[in-house]
Amino acid sequence: KELHFVLLLGSLRRASLNRIVAETLPSLAPQGVRISQLGSIGDFPLYDQDVQDRGIPRSVLDMAEQIASADGVIIVTPEYNYSVPGVLKNALDWLSRVTPQPLAKKPLAIQTVSPGMIGGARAQYHLRQILVFLDAYVLNKPEVMIGQAASKFDVDKGAITDQGTRDFLARQIAALVELTRTVG
Ligand code: FNR
Repeated sequence: KELHFVLLLGSLRRASLNRIVAETLPSLAPQGVRISQLGSIGDFPLYDQDVQDRGIPRSVLDMAEQIASADGVIIVTPEYNYSVPGVLKNALDWLSRVTPQPLAKKPLAIQTVSPGMIGGARAQYHLRQILVFLDAYVLNKPEVMIGQAASKFDVDKGAITDQGTRDFLARQIAALVELTRTVG
């Protein structure tokens, strides 16, 4: 059976380094794996229980439905101030309020991209903590933390030029496939 993974992008920036990874990933997927990007989390309002009480926004429900029907999720995100960007936390907070909660028992891989040395490792561990409560089946290894991304990408062309990085990303997708087949 073909597997379908959906990708959640944690940066809203048009020229985002993380967006380059998000847009390259479908071409790195193995045979029988389709990766598609979810809508922008920039369309979600700021979480407010009063808003929720009036009805969860359509944009949130649509994304929850797409996640629920996917075989797995890939989160690609920058690190902001040693943690998860507020927009991503906001999206996860909204999604966590949908019943049934779409990330529960969902195989999930994390990728962080940064122009800095550490590659977003600290955000990744905060994200893992959040995903404990959301009960996602987070892939342990390989951990994809792409540091010094500007030297590995052609930003103008929106391409990942470093072959080692491309191979590494493909290896993680293969590991997510294996996890999905194991828990599925
Ligand atoms: C950053 N940046 C950053 N980088 C990092 O490696 N660790 C960090 O803690 C932070 N903190 C941080 C806070 C804020 C508010 C901003 C705007 C940026 C730099 C960040 O990695 C860089 O801007 C990336 O290019 C952002 O990812 P996108 O938008 O290119 O995908």
